[in-house]
Amino acid sequence: SKHLISSADLSRAEVEDILETAASMHDLQRREVKKVPTLRGRTIINFFFEDSTRTRSSFEIAGKWMSADTINLSAKGSSTSKGESLRDTAMTVDAMAVDALVIRHNASGACHQVAQWVRCSVINAGDGTHEHPTQALLDAYTLRTRLGDLDGKHIVIVGDLTHSRVFRSNVITLKTLGARVTVVAPPTLMPSGIGAWSAADGFSTSWDLDAVLGGDDPVDAVMMLRVQRERMSGGYFPTAREYTVGYGLTRDRLDRLVARNADVLVLHPGPMNRGLEIAPEAADAPQSVVLDQVSAGVAVRMAVLYHLLAGDDAPATTATTEGV
Ligand code: CP
Repeated sequence: SKHLISSADLSRAEVEDILETAASMHDLQRREVKKVPTLRGRTIINFFFEDSTRTRSSFEIAGKWMSADTINLSAKGSSTSKGESLRDTAMTVDAMAVDALVIRHNASGACHQVAQWVRCSVINAGDGTHEHPTQALLDAYTLRTRLGDLDGKHIVIVGDLTHSRVFRSNVITLKTLGARVTVVAPPTLMPSGIGAWSAADGFSTSWDLDAVLGGDDPVDAVMMLRVQRERMSGGYFPTAREYTVGYGLTRDRLDRLVARNADVLVLHPGPMNRGLEIAPEAADAPQSVVLDQVSAGVAVRMAVLYHLLAGDDAPATTATTEGV
């Protein structure tokens, strides 16, 4: 496909292909001159209708390192703030002959909808509570770098599952790569319909974090998710204190995890609520790969742009930067 809207768009072979390309892109970060001519002449618009630090800057860096012309737009400062519809906005930028539109939007399904209206490639940079496929790819890249093949590995995803597009994309990609996945949330933040989904896709669910972390099935990695207070109208339950006691990766929980497996990995997509879903001691622990995830984000987004925009015979990276 010329779009990346859902993690379900990618077969195992396609995920592995992207992660392999990302590894060669990651090598560029060690070079003094990082730019390669792979996407010279291509134009990418990063349109962020919702705030972002990591995704927006890494897509911009990814495009620039591959010599594409990248333009950033946000709702504030664009004609969206004057009431222009998403359809008119999408068709307007598409009429400028851009090659790709990277979109973050607060409405689930917005990227799928935009892909029906435009001629260019559409890449989902996070749509509401639906999906965030490049986050799942960078998480898989980070996990594979440390754990090797993910077949049979036990990954535990913890937190505000109801509002998490990161969780939805991660479950799909991790299952695609053969991992065993357990998801944990308080009952109030467990999505409706998860019973049928978990049965169909073969992952486990639990309300009891300590039972999962201390259970018979050793944990290879624990992915903590942000409590998304901005998506909760009228406050949230459990309270912050109750949430941390029941579902936070506290220092004590990390110590118990490390005692069982010193190589356990701690992931968080960011931004972190330190002291709520993850203690500073866990966020900064030797087991934490939070900044590895950020670093992988640039490489993975380069790989995604390469696979969607470069010609089939274009080299992913090249030793020469002459003429760039
Ligand atoms: N993980 C993630 O999507 O972070 P940003 O919101 O900062 O892009």
